[in-house]
Amino acid sequence: MAATVQRASPDHAQAIVAVMRSGFIDHLLPYTIFGCHGIAEYLCDVLSVQEYSSSQYFVCVEGNRVLAFAELRYTPTSLFLNHIYVLAEARGRGIGSELLRYALQQMMTGGQDTLELDVFTSNTRAVEWYTSLGLAPVYEQVWLEAGIRPPANGAEGWWCAPDLAQANRLHEIYGFSQFSLQTSSASYITGRLGAHAFRSTNILLLNDEIATRALFTLDRDRKMLYILRSDCLTPGLDGFKVLASSMRLQGQIDSVRARLA
Ligand SMILES: CC(C)(COP(=O)(O)OP(=O)(O)OC[C@H]1O[C@@H](n2cnc3c(N)ncnc32)[C@H](O)[C@@H]1OP(=O)(O)O)[C@@H](O)C(=O)NCCC(=O)NCCS
Repeated sequence: MAATVQRASPDHAQAIVAVMRSGFIDHLLPYTIFGCHGIAEYLCDVLSVQEYSSSQYFVCVEGNRVLAFAELRYTPTSLFLNHIYVLAEARGRGIGSELLRYALQQMMTGGQDTLELDVFTSNTRAVEWYTSLGLAPVYEQVWLEAGIRPPANGAEGWWCAPDLAQANRLHEIYGFSQFSLQTSSASYITGRLGAHAFRSTNILLLNDEIATRALFTLDRDRKMLYILRSDCLTPGLDGFKVLASSMRLQGQIDSVRARLA
């Protein structure tokens, strides 16, 4: 039976989650939305309005079995490969290549010339594949985990979380959510994963004592997950556990497509 590649529909949500969960690094799954209880429901909702979304999902199907999926986001000038996963037993058959080729073809709306993605440094097979497609490293990121400690000096100050009510409701449904945390110095889009972690990609949060106090007030039992560029970090981040490191790769879409053709 031939495998075919197509745009995903809401019916594929459960299978996409299964493919992702079977291929992702086990101990890191709880640090992603794919480890959360309502991810299939979320994907179903996203796929039902996919035509209006900034990200698009594609699947490779054999019979009625989903063997692989990819998710790409677009801006007017670039594409970002968020996920590409093939079931272990279906790898090495050209499915990943065909899925990427098809997705790039579908998502080129005229102005996009650059493809970017993040890959775990330890994922040698994927790194080699992307390199063979002409993608090259731009910078490294680290996934850091730490407990939330109230600032030692007892810093007080203005903060608010204006969309917390809506975020709480979504969190009940999906098991993850994000809200904006505002202090006098910045506004932080802050993620919540399950009951165990806040998530941020904003390095300014590390040193904002008011924001730290706010997160401590909101939920002191959560750990903090930071995904940050290594070249922006200062040495001596005491109490931080390095969970993983990843590379941002970048290349020209034309040359990736030429190599996939
Ligand atoms: C990476 C992945 C998506 C590739 O999909 P795939 O269907 O196996 O790939 P293809 O069969 O199209 O082959 C693509 C490339 O993978 C590499 N590859 C294929 N089979 C391989 C094998 N047995 N051993 C090592 N590398 C292999 C080759 O570089 C190949 O390119 P080539 O055919 O030009 O030599 C797939 O291996 C996978 O799902 N891995 C686990 C999840 C993952 O790492 N995703 C990427 C996260 S950023």
